[in-house]
Amino acid sequence: MRILITGGTGFVGQALCRLLAKAEHSLAVVSRNPERAERALGAQGITVTAADTPLAFKDWQPEAIVNLAGESIAGRRWSDAHKRELRESRLNITEHLVMLCEQLAVEGHPPQVMVSGSAMGYYGAQPKAGQPGDVEIDEQATPHDDFNHRLCRDWEAAAMPVTDSGVRLAIIRIGLVMEADGGTLAKLLTPFRFGLGGRLGDGRHYMPWIHRHDLIRIIERLLTDTTLSGAFNASAPHPVTNMGFTHALARALGRPAILPLPATALKLGLGEMSTLLLEGARMVPARLEEAGFRFDYPTLDVAFADILGKD
Ligand SMILES: NC(=O)c1ccc[n+]([C@@H]2O[C@H](COP(=O)([O-])OP(=O)(O)OC[C@H]3O[C@@H](n4cnc5c(N)ncnc54)[C@H](OP(=O)(O)O)[C@@H]3O)[C@@H](O)[C@H]2O)c1
Repeated sequence: MRILITGGTGFVGQALCRLLAKAEHSLAVVSRNPERAERALGAQGITVTAADTPLAFKDWQPEAIVNLAGESIAGRRWSDAHKRELRESRLNITEHLVMLCEQLAVEGHPPQVMVSGSAMGYYGAQPKAGQPGDVEIDEQATPHDDFNHRLCRDWEAAAMPVTDSGVRLAIIRIGLVMEADGGTLAKLLTPFRFGLGGRLGDGRHYMPWIHRHDLIRIIERLLTDTTLSGAFNASAPHPVTNMGFTHALARALGRPAILPLPATALKLGLGEMSTLLLEGARMVPARLEEAGFRFDYPTLDVAFADILGKD
């Protein structure tokens, strides 16, 4: 298939490009810096065509689209300007993908499918372990209305119009993606290796997570399985609390994790961005499991054994 990927240069996108290139798909990438994107992926033996807007790929006629681009959520403190950037970086590129699909549909060859990003933040802050209302959060759960929810809700809504062009749309509400070379885990490894890790706040909030290997397999499945559409929770079937995560990582590294970071310090240091570290949802991949998807890394212990065993 000819597959167009936004965010193809990122932590998830590069691994996805490697998987899809191995399966002999033709790849194109939307990047703010097309030359750098071609160089970075080319260095890994992946041939891609890159451009800075989806609309440049009209003549290339993509058969499938994966939409992952967006300003990093955990990159820096959330000022009003940064919150706007978090929204606009996702909404603008998604709206351009919608326009591309409309143009291709007019010509009679719309893409078959678009897999579009979202995150566990869609559900907003949910009850912590042991609190009233602490239940598994499947795709039908009622979200809590906060900034994270509104960002994901609007990102999802921006993608919906592709269905009017006859494109099958699958939305992935991604949990924290685990691999050693990026994302949350890369930030935690050094303090934990020095025995400076510990729970965040009271550690009772949930941290839905997924091994990157399983996430890119999910994306590949959603691209090819024509029976699947709508929203999918893309996280491992065994969500953990922050306390559970902390203990699993310390155990995998053979280090103690005894230095908790108080919630007040995180709120003071990070402002509203601390919600990313102090709130979560007990998200479960109900629809993927219903579709028979089998996770290679269903528990954190097996995921960490794989990831940290490669060091
Ligand atoms: N990693 C996680 O744990 C996690 C969890 C939940 C959801 N997600 C979501 O999944 C997607 C992929 O995650 P990731 O970890 O691979 O992200 P990433 O490494 O930060 O990559 C994001 C990509 O988006 C593009 N991008 C960054 N800022 C942009 C901006 N201001 N305007 C337009 N494009 C921009 C970048 O491409 P160029 O620099 O080439 O333009 C980059 O390749 C993201 O949207 C993220 O929010 C990730």
